[in-house]
Amino acid sequence: MIASLKKLYDNRTSDKFATLTLPNGETIQFPMYSGSLGPDVIDISPLKKADLFTYDPGFVATASCSSAVTYIDGNKGELLYRGYPIEQLAEKTTFLQTCYLLYNGEMPTEAEFQTYRAEITRHTMVTQRMADFMKGFDSAAHPMAVMIAVVGALAAFNHEWTNVKSSRSRQKSAALLVAKMPTIAAMSYKYSIGHPFMYPQNSYGFAENFLYMMFATPCEPYRPDPILVKALNRIFILHADHEQNASTSTVRLSGSTNANPFACVSAGIASLWGPAHGGANEAVLKMLNEIGSPDNITAFIEEIKSGKSGRRLMGFGHRVYKNFDPRAHVMRNTCHQVLEHLKLEDDELFRIALELEKIALEDEYFVERKLYPNVDFYSGIVLRALNIPTTMFTAIFAIARTIGWVSHWNEQHTDPEFRIGRPRQLYLGSKKRDLK
Ligand code: SDX
Repeated sequence: MIASLKKLYDNRTSDKFATLTLPNGETIQFPMYSGSLGPDVIDISPLKKADLFTYDPGFVATASCSSAVTYIDGNKGELLYRGYPIEQLAEKTTFLQTCYLLYNGEMPTEAEFQTYRAEITRHTMVTQRMADFMKGFDSAAHPMAVMIAVVGALAAFNHEWTNVKSSRSRQKSAALLVAKMPTIAAMSYKYSIGHPFMYPQNSYGFAENFLYMMFATPCEPYRPDPILVKALNRIFILHADHEQNASTSTVRLSGSTNANPFACVSAGIASLWGPAHGGANEAVLKMLNEIGSPDNITAFIEEIKSGKSGRRLMGFGHRVYKNFDPRAHVMRNTCHQVLEHLKLEDDELFRIALELEKIALEDEYFVERKLYPNVDFYSGIVLRALNIPTTMFTAIFAIARTIGWVSHWNEQHTDPEFRIGRPRQLYLGSKKRDLK
């Protein structure tokens, strides 16, 4: 099982110090820590004594915690889940094997995997009362709005698994969430089109089961295309975790108050919904449709560069990657494979995406800002080829990222430095004054 974070603290070396000299000449020493990979960090806790705060809107240069789950090297364009390169995991594992790895820290033995798969499979159904609950929504409700509400409501149906200080309870609630997210997402889609819910099939794999619940009907047999299942399996792996991104940081901040895991993941879904984060894949497709033809790309890029509209090239740029997002490479190859398999090689949106990427990567505006395609640039095209409706794109991202969220949530409860998150501020408001 996972090396507890507490043991891994012993690997943190702190033989270096940084010294701050204040305007009054006073100096403060700060311990520095080196991790197993990546930049050193400066422990700023001694600032408390000097009644000073650091200031870092957007946390551009702030490490919020120690973690052993995922490592990103933004300059190299490298992404490791528990030390394994994302390219190898996407090629050689199933999503559930990657889930086991992220949560437990090691790849499962065959016996461990069968036990894990059986536990996930056994919990893919939701109670009938949950299905009734879903029927309270307007059929036009966005699936992410439904998922925020329904996942949060899981706490009402699984109260016995909300003891955040028990590792067994955390493991069980994590498995419940991983297992039920695809079912809830598929139910929100079926409800929006007025079709009956399809129950999960215990003999199907994780990705295959999701496609079944999305597209099967009670009227005839349906078995998803294995090539498309493989593509979705890869999409799930690529989206499973990404260090301290906005939604994972949301889950951790909620978890720091000892909130139950269902409430924490519901908060993560809400954060992921934003178009600057997980909503970008939906925004990329809308952008490609708006461009409409490769002939319009140059004018579109000029508009972006002018900054007049305040719009961005969706699917481009990243806070950490200042090189290619390695997931974008895998996603682009998956795009080729799926479109070729479906005989859609001349798909217009894909042609626009390839041309847009080529032009942008040669344009000084994007080059000097180190803006490259990120995971969202191609994922929307693949999902569209799988007949997934655009409104479900971010829901699929949420299905995949659930394992990342619960792995970080579990880890923070094993962290000796665990405490409630409570940032401070630079106050610019009115000074003290009396009411007239
Ligand atoms: C995800 O954090 C994660 O790990 C997230 C994620 C994950 O797996 O969890 O990887 C998933 O969210 C991927 C990102 C998806 N979002 C998009 O594709 C939306 C478009 N991209 C951006 O809005 C932006 O690039 C961000 C939000 C991704 C990153 O924003 P930053 O790091 O805060 O960058 P910035 O806003 O400070 O921009 C720096 C400069 C600015 O120009 P100047 O003010 O210096 O002139 O780059 C420009 C920005 O205007 N810029 C862009 C741009 N992204 C940044 N210009 C045009 N198009 C873009 N996409």
